[in-house]
Amino acid sequence: MEQKNNNKNQIDERLTARQRINLLLDPTTFVELDRYVTHRCTDFGMEKKKVDGDGVISGYGKIDGRLVFVYAFDFSVMGGSLSAANAQKIAKVQDLALKNGAPVISLNDSGGARIQEGVESLTGFAHIFRRNVMASGVIPQISAILGPCAGGSCYSPALTDFILMVKEHSQMFVTGPDVVKAVTNEMVDKDSLGGASVHGGKSGVAHFVCQNEQEAILTIRELIGFLPSNNMEEAPVMPLSDDENRLCHELDNVVPDDPNMPYDIRDVIQPICDHQYFFEVQEMFARNIVVGFGRLAGRTVGFVANQPNFLAGAIDIDASDKAARFIRFCDCFNIPIVAVEDVPGFLPGVNQEHNGIIRHGAKIVYAFAEATVPKVTLITRKAYGGAYIVMNSKCIGADANFAYPTAEIAVMGAEGACNILYRKADDEERAKAVKAYKEKFASPYPAARLGYIDDIILPCDTRSVIIKALEMAHNKNESNPPKKHGNMPL
Ligand code: HXC
Repeated sequence: MEQKNNNKNQIDERLTARQRINLLLDPTTFVELDRYVTHRCTDFGMEKKKVDGDGVISGYGKIDGRLVFVYAFDFSVMGGSLSAANAQKIAKVQDLALKNGAPVISLNDSGGARIQEGVESLTGFAHIFRRNVMASGVIPQISAILGPCAGGSCYSPALTDFILMVKEHSQMFVTGPDVVKAVTNEMVDKDSLGGASVHGGKSGVAHFVCQNEQEAILTIRELIGFLPSNNMEEAPVMPLSDDENRLCHELDNVVPDDPNMPYDIRDVIQPICDHQYFFEVQEMFARNIVVGFGRLAGRTVGFVANQPNFLAGAIDIDASDKAARFIRFCDCFNIPIVAVEDVPGFLPGVNQEHNGIIRHGAKIVYAFAEATVPKVTLITRKAYGGAYIVMNSKCIGADANFAYPTAEIAVMGAEGACNILYRKADDEERAKAVKAYKEKFASPYPAARLGYIDDIILPCDTRSVIIKALEMAHNKNESNPPKKHGNMPL
């Protein structure tokens, strides 16, 4: 792991499509398919512009000894634009990946539909999109964006599980700056329109923002290591090399005494993980919720955690979307989920309400309730109101729920509650009520007495308690009622 991370920053250059594939796969494992395929277009003098393989290199190989399928757009062939022949090559790889239960990785660097081919190239995208959708939840699909990607070259990645972008070198937009100017009269450059920072921080389209291509490709290798090859398998189990019962004394003082003092929830997650290593996903988007992978006793786990360091950890529209999608990914691929909770509630505000926090917030409830993988919750501090319910509470279906002695499980904070209940009371009476409310509710004990919390644990025991809970639920056999599919709020 360490060596991989060191490698990440070594080189900062654009690679050819073939170099990218070679960096991605274990040495000598790449098997190329369709290297003699050419496009079949005869308009606009295209018959004179034929290149063996056309604009995509495709095939299969191995990452850490495990089979993966791959295709890489070659920007040097007509801007990596998608011809019908390229689409046919890609569809072949997608079909093989689905049939053989192995991930598909696309390395994108493409100007979208090949303009000279008209509807043939558009149809090519339709073939790819449909296969992206059919493969969703069956095999992991990962897309690296390594250059300017326009039109259909954005929508195929958008249908996959993870998107990686590279700072300055990669962009994604449905229509480029010229079209934007013509239609809306907005002047914008490629990077400001759809660069890595925009999609990593603002739109949430990208899951990883990398410094250079090498880092992006090595991040894919690392990501694959956390995932099973398909939905019928479990993620690879690493040899046990970190004590399952390791006491985490770093956690003893991580939650501040002052309930309004922020802290970094990653300081709770990291010490719990094997070798204290947490692999964060969508780090810069919706920073009020933290998601990512770690390993516990060698097995992959997905963490979903409120982040008191940002917006006090309140759940807003973007946080809901981010968490729900991650939870659903974990559930598709048999990855247990650990929710770490310190949440004052849903973010109040006209903007949030008008933009649909009800519709978006419902996604987290839906995702947690629907997930049948082992689910564990740890409440470190605040668990207020609907957000308490939503964050993998017992009755939403969690298998094990724990709280630190510092937890506060209540409908809302004491001040807020008493401002409503004692609106007409004087200050002294209200202060008394606040004290009483705090004594009654600002603790995990009422919830523990009712069995909604299975145990109140010392922070230093967190790792061992969560590992035992996940072990207990490892062979859990739970399924939802048969249906074509649910109707998740979108
Ligand atoms: C054919 C294309 C092409 C395309 C680029 N090229 N895009 N050829 N079809 N879609 C060619 C260029 O003509 C040029 O050829 C070479 O690739 C490199 O392109 P440049 O423009 O010189 O590169 P750059 O300045 O880096 O700009 C890259 C770019 C730009 C931002 C991608 O090329 C661009 O805007 N392309 C068009 C994007 C687009 O609108 N695509 C269609 C989307 S519609 P020469 O011979 O000069 O080297 C779509 C439909 C699907 O995809 C929608 C499904 C929902």
